[in-house]
Amino acid sequence: MSLINKLKSFHIEGAVSMHVPGHKNNTIGKLSDVIKPGYDLTEIPGLDDLHDPSEVLDQLNAELAQKSEGYHAQAMVNGTTNGIISSIYALNEKVSNFYIIGEAHKSVYHGISLVNADYTVISAEELYESELGSSCVIFTSPAYTGSLVKNIKQHIEYIRNNSGFSIIDAAHGAHLSITENFKESLLLAEADVVVESYHKMLPALTMASVLFTKDIQLHQRIMHYINHFETSSPSYLVLASIEYAQQFYKEYNDNIFFKKRAVLIHCLKEAEIEVAEQDDPAKLMLTWKRGAYNLELSFRKTGVYSEMVTDEGVLWCLPLWHEGDSYPFKELLHKISKLTPAVSSEGTVKGIDILEGKICVANIVPYPPGVPLVLKGTAITERDLKRVKHYQVNHVKIEGIQYNINYYMNEAEL
Ligand SMILES: Cc1ncc(COP(=O)(O)O)c(C=O)c1O
Repeated sequence: MSLINKLKSFHIEGAVSMHVPGHKNNTIGKLSDVIKPGYDLTEIPGLDDLHDPSEVLDQLNAELAQKSEGYHAQAMVNGTTNGIISSIYALNEKVSNFYIIGEAHKSVYHGISLVNADYTVISAEELYESELGSSCVIFTSPAYTGSLVKNIKQHIEYIRNNSGFSIIDAAHGAHLSITENFKESLLLAEADVVVESYHKMLPALTMASVLFTKDIQLHQRIMHYINHFETSSPSYLVLASIEYAQQFYKEYNDNIFFKKRAVLIHCLKEAEIEVAEQDDPAKLMLTWKRGAYNLELSFRKTGVYSEMVTDEGVLWCLPLWHEGDSYPFKELLHKISKLTPAVSSEGTVKGIDILEGKICVANIVPYPPGVPLVLKGTAITERDLKRVKHYQVNHVKIEGIQYNINYYMNEAEL
């Protein structure tokens, strides 16, 4: 089936979204009011220049910067990936090594590997025993699953007091502080750089992200790299969706959200589904007696699409319900109440045993979440392969595995 037909089929099927993007098939907010093919313009006079903004895009950045005092903002059309890689390039000019705290996305490893920098993965506690003078610490908070790094503000302050720099990958946190009932935005932790994917939880188009930087000179250095890496034909639809999401963020009222969330949790429990609430109220982790992989498949068979499934559970990204949204909430409850276990089949595992003890030649990454399992240059252990098998049996996509197999079968070159 062609891509267009495939996309159409999801509409006909009436798929219910429990995944990103945050507009949930245009049912949260009403992006279609501002996203029209006729607005798909380019940088003609009057529409400014994304990489040297001085008119309407400068105004948009100024509006975005109001999200948190003391930050410069830049709208981006190539996702948080673009912001992270560009920030690593800019900070690499100032530091001699990087520390990584938390489960970092592959873009962090890609950035560090491109600049050929040294890095160490540490825990937040180990920060206090580390030499930070000429370092940059990269945090991921919230994690994909909605958990936050505890006491991050104190960690950042400690890093700054010890002359280090900090980046927070807050890809999953653009909606935090949307009201006082949500956890605090990572912008309040005062890191040097914070990058947020607006598209993940707010009503913005996929790839809509925002870079926030404290210091203007650092901001300009990051802009220098963004100018190198980001497309020179930015989508005005993506940019308009960032403005739309910012407006939504400013005006949001959470009354309906928390009521619907409570009804949903009740309904899930009635269906004998265990619900683990996360720091982020817009994330839920679910499982049931037959295990998380079976639960995800059972939902999918009824047309409810989840964000991710791991051994921990099925991850749902809740819609930011609001007055007047058109999210199919009743249909969702109905589908949950009628949920029956799907018949699962095992995925195939081919030729991975050849990799035991070999040096990994391309990062091995379960996707989602996109957090590397084995990094290039490290030995692939029996334990790693057990994890890979387990994922593959459960139909989780593993990036890089085939490349490693091909390489060691002499069918691929580095
Ligand atoms: C923790 C984390 N950081 C960064 C990214 C990349 O964000 P984007 O898709 O906006 O490039 C992701 C994407 O899933 C992510 O999970």
